[in-house]
Amino acid sequence: MSKTWKKYLLWFAQEHIAFRVAEIQALLSLYQIEIKYQEVPKYNDPFWIVEFASEEEAKLVASRSVSLRNCLELWAHEKSLEKLHETLKNKEKTFYSDFSNNKSFKVEVETFCRHFTQKEKIEKIETFSYLPLKGPVNLKNPELHLQYIEYYGTRANDPPLKPYHVFFGRLVANGLRQLIKQLSLKTRKFIGNTSMDPQLSLLMANQARVKNGDLVLDPFVGSGSLLVAAAQFGGYVFGSDIDYLMLHGKTKPTRINQKVREKDESVKANMRQYNLEHRYLDILVNDFSMVFWKDSMKFDSIITDPPYGIREATERVGTTRENFLINEKYLPTHIPAKTEYGIPTIYRDLLNFSAKHLQIGGRLVCWFPVFREDYTEDCLPAHPCLKIVANCEQPLSMVTSRRLLTYEKLKQPVLEDLTIMDNRITDFREKYFVVREVTRKERRLKEAQTRRDKWEIYKNLHKVN
Ligand SMILES: C[S@@+](CC[C@H](N)C(=O)[O-])C[C@H]1O[C@@H](n2cnc3c(N)ncnc32)[C@H](O)[C@@H]1O
Repeated sequence: MSKTWKKYLLWFAQEHIAFRVAEIQALLSLYQIEIKYQEVPKYNDPFWIVEFASEEEAKLVASRSVSLRNCLELWAHEKSLEKLHETLKNKEKTFYSDFSNNKSFKVEVETFCRHFTQKEKIEKIETFSYLPLKGPVNLKNPELHLQYIEYYGTRANDPPLKPYHVFFGRLVANGLRQLIKQLSLKTRKFIGNTSMDPQLSLLMANQARVKNGDLVLDPFVGSGSLLVAAAQFGGYVFGSDIDYLMLHGKTKPTRINQKVREKDESVKANMRQYNLEHRYLDILVNDFSMVFWKDSMKFDSIITDPPYGIREATERVGTTRENFLINEKYLPTHIPAKTEYGIPTIYRDLLNFSAKHLQIGGRLVCWFPVFREDYTEDCLPAHPCLKIVANCEQPLSMVTSRRLLTYEKLKQPVLEDLTIMDNRITDFREKYFVVREVTRKERRLKEAQTRRDKWEIYKNLHKVN
């Protein structure tokens, strides 16, 4: 059957912009949908013109995307409103035949980076009165929702007088932005100090291509935010974490105005809050450096945010004392000692674990902290059985960022594939504290110098010796 490719406009929200294209590509591969396009949007540009072979495909991708505001079937795209009117007027009569029956409709004006009053917007809408729309206007729930968009670039403080681009089209689907609010940490039953925000959690689940019935694991689960997102897309979720107190909801409350944790705070309670309890398998207290899963256990995806050692400790069970033995009578109440679990070791373990326990084609989605000045692709954790298919940066400060890495499993490992320590991975934590100390010293020196300068000025002004 021949495909009828049509142009669509993908309009993204201006948030986490580095993740947009990767998210759409992950969804395309999830649904095995092909698109055509001339170029990907420039970094800041919120619009992407693509072609889909059917409206169903456009709807499928758009309605699962967290980055997307909406998707329009693109009727016209020009540099000015005058040209746009010309293009719309020159369309063949048959083009409008589907829409010119008695369908209720609404035309909406959207502007990017410039504000217009309602009166000005209505004046713009009225210029479209030549469109052959015969149905009644319905502002709340129209059958045909048309949008006219003026794009004034991204410099909000200094927009041009005339738009760079104007678009006109029919709304096909909204993105999943409303879910971000629904899953807000502000109203979530159980959160921790490092709970991942819903937008990034959902983006991670999309990168992992979670689908109905998938088995998903987060081995550094904390308060379980990543499980909420994975379950939302149909995953059955498992988690583990070394922090007993966290998993039992016994850590100090994270909210400033909360004195003690409620009795029933837990990852499971969060799942219940979002009607996802049926997707919850279990959460286990486990040190990730000591894997307990059977070799035959396979997950469809592993989605995780390992500790960087800044806001939470990077620890594993162990001791530096030689030949350390515990008397058997103390075993039942013994709390194991912990030692440092350095970042290079964590990522070596995570990649080895994923190579072994993912299905072929399954994905590992994880964050990796970097110093921006040191960053090269060569310093990313690598494994012969895993291929990096996406790598997006989220800046954390002027000097640091974290990268969302998406790996896909290519093959089942044999013994030689198990990676030993990867020396190219720098220990982010070690450098972080060194850099912070240097920055603090520099700041103190600067402040002292400023005080001295001020004192010199004061002395000169007031002739003080
Ligand atoms: C960045 S937090 C994860 C936060 C989580 N994504 C959430 O939304 O709450 C990292 C977690 O790794 C856990 N962790 C640290 N060392 C561990 C280890 N050796 N084994 C398992 N979990 C560990 C910490 O207790 C912490 O909960």
